[in-house]
Amino acid sequence: MSNFPQQPHCLAPAFGGGAAPPPLPSAAGGGQPVRDRKIASAEQLVLDLCEPDLRENALGELSKREIFQDLAPLLWNAYGTIAALLQEIVSIYPFLSPPTLSPGASNRVCNALALLQCVASHPDTRILFLNAHIPLYLYPFLNTTSKTKPFEYLRLTSLGVIGALVKVDDTEVISFLLQTEIIPLCLRTMEMGSELSKTVATFIVQKILLDDVGLRYICATAERFYAVGQVLGSMVTSLAEQPSTRLLKHIIRCYLRLSEHPRACGSLNNCLPNMLKDGSFNNYIDDPTTRHWLQQLLHNVGGINRVANLQGGLDHIIGS
Ligand code: TRP
Repeated sequence: MSNFPQQPHCLAPAFGGGAAPPPLPSAAGGGQPVRDRKIASAEQLVLDLCEPDLRENALGELSKREIFQDLAPLLWNAYGTIAALLQEIVSIYPFLSPPTLSPGASNRVCNALALLQCVASHPDTRILFLNAHIPLYLYPFLNTTSKTKPFEYLRLTSLGVIGALVKVDDTEVISFLLQTEIIPLCLRTMEMGSELSKTVATFIVQKILLDDVGLRYICATAERFYAVGQVLGSMVTSLAEQPSTRLLKHIIRCYLRLSEHPRACGSLNNCLPNMLKDGSFNNYIDDPTTRHWLQQLLHNVGGINRVANLQGGLDHIIGS
């Protein structure tokens, strides 16, 4: 490893194939040289990721904030960087079960995940990231059930990477996630995670449902539909004790989307939590969008009710 090139020549393609322009002696307050210095130091830190002794510091520094806009292509194109990040990830697999992950090790991997999130968010690297099947490396973290901080932090950061992928509506992303069975993993976090990781997991399910392929997938079998419905329902129940308007918003959006599927809408008639129907949350939803979604949901589900009642009434009249 120590004979890796120290000159950032391997990074040049990230900047359009040319060398970075020399810093101009600037009359305008020195912004450009500062920026150039930042880029140069980020380049050095990216190279440091490949040096085992320097990696921990580089992970910490690079993940602190998005140092500059095009960190993602730099990470992706620099020789050995993604391999180094994956190595970080797999190195803690042995501590997942039985759960023995230390806070320090969790923090270090979360820094590596933050850099992957940057790659997953960037338009030029998102599809490359997906085609390399990198999300799969995160799935073991979503499969954990320990509620301790190191595991909770690991689940939340991993969900952040998936959340960054689904944020841009792209059916290719959704298909990948469905094929690799992300839904049961999200459901698991929705059942046992912290409020924040529940919210991110529900956001991911919401984005999947909003995709036509995703809605069809979840409504394809009764088992799938009820698995999702049951977890949404138990989250609603627990919101009565521990309110979270942002979580409620995503839950309602999921139900509303399910109500747009004819068969699912029929089932929601029975399994939509009463608390959503009886106004329990009325004083509590201040966001007009959420209010509107809830009204629409009740309208959709109530519409089925009316059809069922009408049907019942007709049955009565016709005597069948
Ligand atoms: N293999 C399971 C299936 O396709 C995956 C799964 C488990 C699932 N629980 C789910 C999919 C809930 C959708 C919803 O059914």
